[in-house]
Amino acid sequence: MELPDVVLPAHGRARDELVNDLRARKSADADWRGGRTWSLVYPAGPDVDEVLHEANNLYLHENALNPFRFPSLADMEREVVAMTAGLLHAPAGASGSMTSGGTESIMQAVRVARDRARAERGVERPTLVVPRTAHPAFAKGAKYFDLELVQIPVDDDFRADVSAAESLIDPARTALVAGSAPNYPFGVIDPIPELAGLAAERGVPFHTDACMGGFVLPFKPDAPPFDFAVPGVSTISSDVHKYGYTTKGASVLLHREGAHVLQYQAFLYDDWPGGLYGSLALAGARPAAPVAAAWSVMNHLGFDGYTRLVNRTLDNVAALRTGIEDLGLRVLGDPTATILAFTHPRIMAIGDRMDEAGWHLDRQSGPEALHMTISPEHHRVIHQFLGDLAAAVADPGTARDAEIRYS
Ligand SMILES: Cc1ncc(COP(=O)(O)O)c(C=O)c1O
Repeated sequence: MELPDVVLPAHGRARDELVNDLRARKSADADWRGGRTWSLVYPAGPDVDEVLHEANNLYLHENALNPFRFPSLADMEREVVAMTAGLLHAPAGASGSMTSGGTESIMQAVRVARDRARAERGVERPTLVVPRTAHPAFAKGAKYFDLELVQIPVDDDFRADVSAAESLIDPARTALVAGSAPNYPFGVIDPIPELAGLAAERGVPFHTDACMGGFVLPFKPDAPPFDFAVPGVSTISSDVHKYGYTTKGASVLLHREGAHVLQYQAFLYDDWPGGLYGSLALAGARPAAPVAAAWSVMNHLGFDGYTRLVNRTLDNVAALRTGIEDLGLRVLGDPTATILAFTHPRIMAIGDRMDEAGWHLDRQSGPEALHMTISPEHHRVIHQFLGDLAAAVADPGTARDAEIRYS
């Protein structure tokens, strides 16, 4: 990263001037409040926003590193973990912690599994077996913690191919098998019972990545099994800062087996002059606001609030899917949650047209597709979005024609 030609100002600047500067800088950012973004932010409406502002403000300065200094944070963290565990059918004795996000939850699950495999099964050169569609956080965990990443191919429906997985799980080397509920690229849910069953038969732990689905699927009565109700599921990651609707910095990592496994996650150290240092997180100092905000929004919404928001989001998904397919575009796989990916022979040119119309859609490459993560607040823009998409399909232009492949 090239550094800008900037130094610390010799004299401080006035607050009003700075706030104006911040507002001006922000004006070039994605307009998520206007429903223009289809990833990164999960707007749930003004009442949730107000709760989040209050909670973040109240806990702006505290540090969640030391639970003895700020017992309110320790209590709220335990309650967030317990409420999440309850939603995911965790058995009595399960344990867990809050992390900074889905990536940390997944990386910690990978590290814990590696250390368990080493200590309990003597695994020296561990592998991590995940579907090809698994989030890059797994590859990051494999890289940081020195595991070999093994990818399970996916079927035509973009779900992990169970028979291929069979030969990839090696009881002598595999530290962890994982599946997504749902995966990011296509929003489809892997065959979790089958994958977890294969892992369990071989004595290998299984992780369900419910970063996307952890606060959606429990409120969807026809969701396929994906959580601790499935035998063999050992750990689950579930992000409060996605469909739990809190501000960034809040995920939950749960362990079925409780204290026995949590000891692998814990870092305790006293071989220095500074006293005993203990932490379950990758970070040292931890922001307190995400804990307070997660606790507040979960209590503010409750089961009925989440159910209402999930139903509204799924209505949006259904309306968008019908509209997209009616325009002759093809939705990839059969997404059952809150993500849609769709393609067309000229999809990248259509994406360029949608950019020009002020929409922010992620682009995917295998196959080429546009990608949407759908929120409850998107109901306000569906009509306009589909209108702009119709115009883009009718006249995609030639912008990226040379690059178009249809797979
Ligand atoms: C399925 C899935 N898992 C994990 C993650 C990683 O979450 P985070 O960005 O909070 O680290 C994401 C992010 O989109 C995701 O979609």
